[in-house]
Amino acid sequence: MRDEQLSHDLLAWYDRHARVMPWRVGPADRRAGVRPDPYAVWMSEVMLQQTTVAAVRDYFHRFMARWPTVGDLAAAEDGDVMAEWAGLGYYARARNLLKCARAVVADHGGQFPDSREGLLALPGVGPYTASAVAAIAFDEPATVVDGNVERVMSRVFLVETPLPAAKPELTDLAARLTPQDRPGDHAQAVMDLGATVCTPKSPACGICPWMEPCTARAEGVQATLPRKTPK
Ligand code: ADE
Repeated sequence: MRDEQLSHDLLAWYDRHARVMPWRVGPADRRAGVRPDPYAVWMSEVMLQQTTVAAVRDYFHRFMARWPTVGDLAAAEDGDVMAEWAGLGYYARARNLLKCARAVVADHGGQFPDSREGLLALPGVGPYTASAVAAIAFDEPATVVDGNVERVMSRVFLVETPLPAAKPELTDLAARLTPQDRPGDHAQAVMDLGATVCTPKSPACGICPWMEPCTARAEGVQATLPRKTPK
């Protein structure tokens, strides 16, 4: 199956099954021209690293209610931000959040840079966050790879190399599938597929838009992938 067909089938699935999230502009609204707020996308992606969607929801609402713009956050007291973050864990993320917000205000007039490269130059913004914000907020065809995406790629393309050695190969495969059209929806669709259908245990192959092209499923080995190097 051609890469374009895979992306097309995934986007058709996403149009019907996209998860509703407070920071997300759904496919219908996007089509109607609604653009995501880069600040909200960035905030959500920082919170979602190492934390589940369910745990992030309330924190996201509280942060956005208290500091509705990146300028508001940049002007916040460090202690207030740390206190609001309490319970989310990985506190370096909160310190980086503030550093980044202040750099956006000091160096970019309060506007997030609109490219992956520009985002990557911000303090505390790594390759994952830069790609996610570039794709989701600015529709740049950046490839977003998290654990969900690695699992999906390892199965569709039957990658037997164990993680973490397989990361470059899985990233290349994900990049190949990234479309020029709707890259933001595509990025969120692969993550949703991994979170709701192509789950670690007992994946729901029967309802998967990639059931037919999935090599692991054809061989019956989907639940054994991705392989992991024993610790
Ligand atoms: N996990 C992290 N970021 C996500 C997103 N934008 N959509 C779905 N799952 C995610």
